[in-house]
Amino acid sequence: MQEQVMEMEEDIVIVGGGIAGLATALGLHRLGLRSLVLESSDSLRITGFAITLLTNAWRALDALGIGNSLREHYPRIPGFEAGSSVSGVTSEVESPDKNGRKDLLETLGRELPRVTIRYSSKVVSIEGTGYHKLLHLADGSTLKTKVLIGCDGVNSLVAKWLGLQKPVYSGRSSIRGFVENPDGHGFQPGFHCHFDGGVRYGCVPWDDKCLYWFCTYNSSLQYDEDMQENPAKMKQFVLRKISQLPQQAAAVVEMTELNTIFCSPLKLRLPWNLLLGNISKGNVCVSGDALHPMTPDIGQGGCSALEDSVVLARCLAEALLKKPTNGIQNEEEEFGRIKKGLEKFAKERRWRSFSLISASYVVGFIQERDGKMMNFLREKFLSRFTVSSMRKMADFHCGELIISDSH
Ligand SMILES: Cc1cc2nc3c(=O)[nH]c(=O)nc-3n(C[C@H](O)[C@H](O)[C@H](O)COP(=O)(O)OP(=O)(O)OC[C@H]3O[C@@H](n4cnc5c(N)ncnc54)[C@H](O)[C@@H]3O)c2cc1C
Ligand SMILES: *[C@@H]1O[C@H](CO)[C@@H](O)[C@H](O)[C@H]1NC(C)=O
Ligand SMILES: *[C@@H]1O[C@H](CO)[C@@H](O)[C@H](O)[C@H]1NC(C)=O
Repeated sequence: MQEQVMEMEEDIVIVGGGIAGLATALGLHRLGLRSLVLESSDSLRITGFAITLLTNAWRALDALGIGNSLREHYPRIPGFEAGSSVSGVTSEVESPDKNGRKDLLETLGRELPRVTIRYSSKVVSIEGTGYHKLLHLADGSTLKTKVLIGCDGVNSLVAKWLGLQKPVYSGRSSIRGFVENPDGHGFQPGFHCHFDGGVRYGCVPWDDKCLYWFCTYNSSLQYDEDMQENPAKMKQFVLRKISQLPQQAAAVVEMTELNTIFCSPLKLRLPWNLLLGNISKGNVCVSGDALHPMTPDIGQGGCSALEDSVVLARCLAEALLKKPTNGIQNEEEEFGRIKKGLEKFAKERRWRSFSLISASYVVGFIQERDGKMMNFLREKFLSRFTVSSMRKMADFHCGELIISDSH
């Protein structure tokens, strides 16, 4: 069969197979709706990167029906530790439901029927045709859809189509690494974090053998052009920055394989862009990082993408499954319902997105300031401030995945 010459038509197309895209597809699937996920890479992008899932994420995963199966495989990480390397002071604060996950995407992917994810499918442009959107893919094929959802991450094409302003650079970058050591890394379970001279270093053990670490820093101070492409340099950089930390921290960085070290600039969408701009327009909307790219300082990027997904699936399913009141069902009437559904999603998520981006930025800004005064403050209360901000933002319930009958 010569498939590529045929124009395919779909009801719901999701661009991007990250956390947001897969969770949205799963939410829709739970409510009885089929969707197609287009992912530009040739497989699930599981680069060994773990994310920390906070309370709100667990509520969303429960709503999606995969909370329990994820909880089963991974023990809970008991505490949260934030410290300053200068004095060696660490404050340990219990944080509820703070778990680490490295197989979140795999679990999401497994729960979905095979057909719903199409790899090596990069969307290059979007065109409006009546009540449909026409997507052009990099391989030359086209695809028509009634609903277009952009879960295409920080450099979202769909967000651009909606007229949202580009995310801005925060002035900071992050280096992340993942280590697997058969002899064990020696860290206690928990979230370990240290601040020092404009640099923040943290690590999160998954189990006794695997560990994920990150280092965020002010890149205007230590700008180095070829570091971006050079993992060996990144490693040296981090080792220099954490020389005052316990030997254990350096040992972990030291043993990290170069192919699991990545450096990325930290970007965010200016929060007021979300208050003024269009999160949805007609039958198109954005979700996840495409909607609210934020700095990673309160660990909410992925968690809030899960919230988005539950809300979006609920709003869209409600709109699509609603019977027309006068019995007449045509494209125009259906388009109207979709538009209203996506507007409802936008309304529910606008302020939440605004607060999340703002809180992340403030926490990051405060933590990475350098100087004696900041070090003093950090020791006294900033680690507590960080923990309390994290907890406050994580205390959110996206609701259940059920559709109300009242129209
Ligand atoms: C240092 C760091 C630490 C972090 N720590 C945490 C944490 O502890 N907890 C947490 O919750 N979050 C954390 N995050 C944030 C989290 O990783 C992101 O918020 C989350 O991955 C966003 O998911 P997404 O699905 O919206 O976007 P992405 O994961 O970026 O997925 C987008 C997908 O779309 C695909 N795509 C893009 N364009 C196209 C196109 N044109 N056509 C087809 N496909 C396309 C991409 O290939 C990609 O697979 C951290 C981020 C950083 C940088
Ligand atoms: C980085 O450091 C420079 C020089 O001290 C400072 O002007 C800038 O505001 C800092 N940026 C951030 C994001 O902290
Ligand atoms: C939002 O969309 C409307 C309708 O298309 C448009 O008139 C308006 O200018 C858009 N707003 C922004 C900030 O892009």
